[in-house]
Amino acid sequence: MRRIRIFDTTLRDGEQSPGVTLTPAEKLEIARQLVRLRVDVIEAGYPAASPGDFSSVEAISRVAKGVTVCGLARAVQSDIQSAYDAIKGSDDPRIHLFLATSDIHMEKKLRMTRAQVEEQVDRMVRFAVSLTPNVQFSPEDGGRTDLDFLVRIVEIAIRAGAKVINIPDTVGFLLPSEYAMRMKHVRDHVEFGDVQLSAHCHDDLGLAVANSLAAISAGVDQVEGTINGIGERAGNASLEEIAVALSLRAEQFGASTQMDLSQIVRTSRLVSRLTGMVVPPNKAVVGANAFAHESGIHQDGVIKERTTYEIIDPSSVGLTENRSLVLGKHSGRHAFRKHLEEMGYVLSDDDLAEVFKRFKALCDRKKTVTEEDILALVDERYHED
Ligand code: KIV
Ligand code: ZN
Repeated sequence: MRRIRIFDTTLRDGEQSPGVTLTPAEKLEIARQLVRLRVDVIEAGYPAASPGDFSSVEAISRVAKGVTVCGLARAVQSDIQSAYDAIKGSDDPRIHLFLATSDIHMEKKLRMTRAQVEEQVDRMVRFAVSLTPNVQFSPEDGGRTDLDFLVRIVEIAIRAGAKVINIPDTVGFLLPSEYAMRMKHVRDHVEFGDVQLSAHCHDDLGLAVANSLAAISAGVDQVEGTINGIGERAGNASLEEIAVALSLRAEQFGASTQMDLSQIVRTSRLVSRLTGMVVPPNKAVVGANAFAHESGIHQDGVIKERTTYEIIDPSSVGLTENRSLVLGKHSGRHAFRKHLEEMGYVLSDDDLAEVFKRFKALCDRKKTVTEEDILALVDERYHED
């Protein structure tokens, strides 16, 4: 099994979600939880962005033991120096610098020629390496960069000493087959040696997780993403989805992570609570409905054998409370009886038939039927005799 390294950027790209700002104490709390989740790398922030960001990254570097702590920098000397100063107290500091390489970014945003970009990558990676050997370089908008130029830039960064090359699909434009092809092409045309190749996907087309998995199949060593998929615009790849898919289909991928999956729900809830970004109920793995079954046929199946309709064991991702059988108008009598038993009511067949009939009628009138409603129906039946 190849080991895939998990690079968490919840505190950097995730914090770039519109409307999200975390206090230094909140960032530390998330970083501690990411250590429990056993990610390999925590991208703690962008130290040059503000004095607050700098001190948060510095504090996380002191506290997050046994992981690589990474600081982001533009490919300019002052940013790189500031990133290094913030992370140097970490067990394993990493500088992550980036420079855009797509024609549209170079022409319209940077106003630089290809030759100038090449020269700056070479000079800035060398400067970063003079501070620490653990340097990651990202050609920003790598997903839309001319393939020959991308190869050239990656060659330059590796020759200058970068130890990790990340090819970001910055605008979430690529399809899984295209992203995989890009990764293979770069790997086949550049001498990587022990340099790691990394994937970083955005979710503009809802493909960030699919693209990350395609990149793993294509042989990358590291995947980047955030908890709950938060991030710029439509967000980043959801790390919890990638990790569970890898664990469930480990043989197909021939790859695994060191993540402690039982910490997933806890981490997801913490990030949601502190960022204020609500997890959609139907979100894979961590959504409130991810393990909820409403239709009678499904409920009946799950009662008989959980795996009829559940591919993930909820306890494996740390879901301890039982919320599997949701009562609604599609529920069957079997699930209804089980639910009542769990509430402490064992009804005769006649009583059950009557209460179930009233329950169904109520479901037609009311959007959400609560435990209190069900109790009222049982109570009503008891008081008739
Ligand atoms: O999406 C992106 O290109 C980034 C880079 C800074 C790696 O987040
Ligand atoms: Zn990004």
